[in-house]
Amino acid sequence: MSRLIVISNRVQPPKTGPGGNQGGLAVALLAALREQGGIWFGWSGETTEEFSGHINFQQGGGVTTATIDLEPQDVDEYYNGYANRTLWPLFHYRIDLTEFERDFGSGYRRVNQRFADTVRPLIEDDDLVWVHDYHLMPLGQELRDRGFRNRLGFFLHIPWPPARLLLSLPSHRKLVETLFAYDVVGFHTEDWLDSFRDYVTKQLGGTLGPNDTVTYEGRTIRAIAAPIGIETKEFEEAAAGNDARFARERMYMSSTGRSLIVGVDRLDYSKGLTERFLGYERFLQQNPERNGLVYMLQIAPPSREKVNTYQEIRANLDALSGRINGEYADIDWVPIRYVNKGFPRQTLAGIYRAARIGLVTPLRDGMNLVAKEYVAAQDPSDPGVLILSSFAGAAAQLKEAVLVNPYSAEELSDAIVKALEMPRAERIRRWEALIDNVRREDVFWWCDLFLAALRGDAGAEAA
Ligand code: F6P
Repeated sequence: MSRLIVISNRVQPPKTGPGGNQGGLAVALLAALREQGGIWFGWSGETTEEFSGHINFQQGGGVTTATIDLEPQDVDEYYNGYANRTLWPLFHYRIDLTEFERDFGSGYRRVNQRFADTVRPLIEDDDLVWVHDYHLMPLGQELRDRGFRNRLGFFLHIPWPPARLLLSLPSHRKLVETLFAYDVVGFHTEDWLDSFRDYVTKQLGGTLGPNDTVTYEGRTIRAIAAPIGIETKEFEEAAAGNDARFARERMYMSSTGRSLIVGVDRLDYSKGLTERFLGYERFLQQNPERNGLVYMLQIAPPSREKVNTYQEIRANLDALSGRINGEYADIDWVPIRYVNKGFPRQTLAGIYRAARIGLVTPLRDGMNLVAKEYVAAQDPSDPGVLILSSFAGAAAQLKEAVLVNPYSAEELSDAIVKALEMPRAERIRRWEALIDNVRREDVFWWCDLFLAALRGDAGAEAA
């Protein structure tokens, strides 16, 4: 069996002990790496004064990780620059927040070249190579330019924007052309895939063929939709385990008789936190008789703190949560508990299970795995209600959630009332449909789906 080489901006070290704490993507990739053998390559998260190409190898749990340090200028221009000041906002439909600096583009290219130069000697002839996310779109082309002939796949974990938006990116054409260096390109939903095809056919003059193929200038690739899932079984077990029970009891004891509404998101403007707080404020305004009977816990660990737009959203949310609490709190009740730190998955599983409502309302999201984790954590005999943005990739699968327009305070407020009033039989019916999907299309299913396409297995069908 050929080895698998996974390449992403960040590398998740394999679990070293029982307390290990990994996201679903890391769990799936580590499992695939363990099964096939191979290497996970990426940036260490550290800087060095001068780039040397030195690779730091680590082994653990049957997996090898290989990381490189980058120069401070690389991090500024590539990670804090082109990736998170240009591509991230633009691909999340926030052209108003998008910055176009020539230096960002050259830093992005330089780091992709550095990745290609350092990873190339690690790859053997029949290895499968799987590149992840917007940080590394041109990496495939850089590898091909170095004579690389292996099977090469790319997965985008964020939305693909409508052509009209993408056209505002200087050198958009060059960026998209680089994707034709891959054999398979994956997106989480049919929507993102459609936008990609639309750009390729209308802007590049490419053509669509059978079996998800797309051809441009004589090069044919497969472009597929493959929605990522979570490690459902493990998460269901975590929610029923001791750490989760302890977290649940902490929640109950600190708020006897009150319904918990929970949100868990990286502190990012794409997550719709401002709009969520405003929707909750509208609910408090319009339902005075319910004040004191519910409370919201918003967990929002800070992220990308060197980027100004992230500093601004943090300041806005500090002010907004303070204002809402100042206006509505009582001597024995605070409407919003706003917490700027992360928690272990087992604790989160317990909090989700304690919550009557899971509020997942991004303005735009490639997928959103919190929605799936909330579903997996519920008590089957008395499940909570998922309120989900129709603009999250997850909405295409989780159709039995209460779907909302996250920009509308009225809709959010109405959805909270609906969820609080929803009879148990309806909650169970909706949850059973949701968990069915979350179990069936889990992260291992996703990984197998993409790798089958990448291997070129006959009959490998996308979702
Ligand atoms: O889902 C998009 C993504 O950028 C991933 O690539 C990344 O692992 C995650 O969000 C967290 O972002 P960051 O690595 O910038 O903290």
